[in-house]
Amino acid sequence: MSKIISLTKRRGFIFLSSEIYGGFGSCYDFGPLGVEMKNNIKLAWWDEMTKNQKNIVGLDAAILMSPKVWKASGHLTAGFADELVECKSCHKRFRLEEIGGGSPPAKCPECGGKLTKPRKFNLMMKTFVGPVEEEASQTYLRAETCQGIYVNFENVLNSMRLKIPFGVAQIGKAFRNEITPGDFIYRTREFEQMEMQWFCHPKEAEKYFDYWTKERLKWYENLGIKKENLRIKEVSAKERPHYAKQALDLEYKFPFGWREIEGIHNRGDWDLSNHSKYSGKDLRYYNEETKEKYFPYIIETSVGVERPLFAFLCDAFQEIPGGRTKTTKPTKEVEILLKLDKKLVPIKVAVLPLVKNKPELVKKAKEVYQLLKPHFVCQYDELGSIGRRYRRQDEIGTIACLTVDFESLEKEDLTIRDRDTMKQERVKIKDLIKVLSKFLS
Ligand code: GAP
Repeated sequence: MSKIISLTKRRGFIFLSSEIYGGFGSCYDFGPLGVEMKNNIKLAWWDEMTKNQKNIVGLDAAILMSPKVWKASGHLTAGFADELVECKSCHKRFRLEEIGGGSPPAKCPECGGKLTKPRKFNLMMKTFVGPVEEEASQTYLRAETCQGIYVNFENVLNSMRLKIPFGVAQIGKAFRNEITPGDFIYRTREFEQMEMQWFCHPKEAEKYFDYWTKERLKWYENLGIKKENLRIKEVSAKERPHYAKQALDLEYKFPFGWREIEGIHNRGDWDLSNHSKYSGKDLRYYNEETKEKYFPYIIETSVGVERPLFAFLCDAFQEIPGGRTKTTKPTKEVEILLKLDKKLVPIKVAVLPLVKNKPELVKKAKEVYQLLKPHFVCQYDELGSIGRRYRRQDEIGTIACLTVDFESLEKEDLTIRDRDTMKQERVKIKDLIKVLSKFLS
């Protein structure tokens, strides 16, 4: 884990928020490569939901909503609170759930000391809307994006003339005042969720719960996560969130153990019936053919962007002692290869002049870089030996390294090096965009 964290900082994926002030409350910033990768994950998810699946539309609701929403959703009550215990000796804090529950468990898992009685902490983040704090109304930063979908149920249904079953997908920031954030970007107080809410007839809820579980597992596998590092955990009635009739976690084998990356929930009619009750608006669905009026059940798939990003990095990270290139002399160097899926890799193409002290090579390489820049996320690099530059690109997963050499000047071509096989092929510069588009697809 420390090697992955160090790579993400060194190569511009992830930085500690407000680092020059010593960091801030387990918040993280995504650097130049991190933001590319995050965007790639969001795009892969959005395409999956709105293009590959049927009958799903998108939404982008506001982060700030009426506080009445959170009253209706049950988030302001005990349902959305973590139980905290503190060790009386070492003063470390734990969520009761993370140390196996109990009332209270006998000992501190760190030092064996006695624990305090559990106390409940609500996770909603308060904020004020309006210029003067005392006069302004208090509300909350959203703790899950899906509430924006439920309160727009009627708007989306009517404006898009949809029929059940249908889905609404949304990506956006969510906030929770986590009492024990940690494990790098695994549990943070600010994160970005990708949630899809599937509205269906109650009789079909179980069928769709299974369907979406399988589809979501496939999504991870198609993006390169190894099968053996993914598993499904049924969530028992005691552990389920307050709104769920049925729930399971998709878990990934992180360096610190099996943990949830995504939740699949059958929320029944919890949300629509409560919003109907609290708002006074009848949110039941009317089926014109059968004349049936009912609250649709909701099957949701819910994941933060950061957890899969972390999982993709862990799964792709490889260390190769002695390096991949056979040399006559054994080397002690450990090469890093980030074997990310092509869709997720932050930098797709690197353009490298063979050497930097030949102006004609540098000029040609810069021309190639300018040619490709509008089409692919590219990097130009001329510093260090060519072997070292290949390794720097392997470390961030770059799919194709293009090298401009002396032959390039005569033949108007260059070499393309494949990250995984390290094989090189010569390609004409005039054909590059076509060849690369195929190579990267
Ligand atoms: N709308 C349902 C919902 O929010 P959840 O199980 O509380 O369900 C769903 O959260 C997903 O959101 C998690 O599986 C995880 O990917 C992400 N998530 C939740 N809390 C998080 C946190 N504190 N830090 C990072 N990601 C988080």
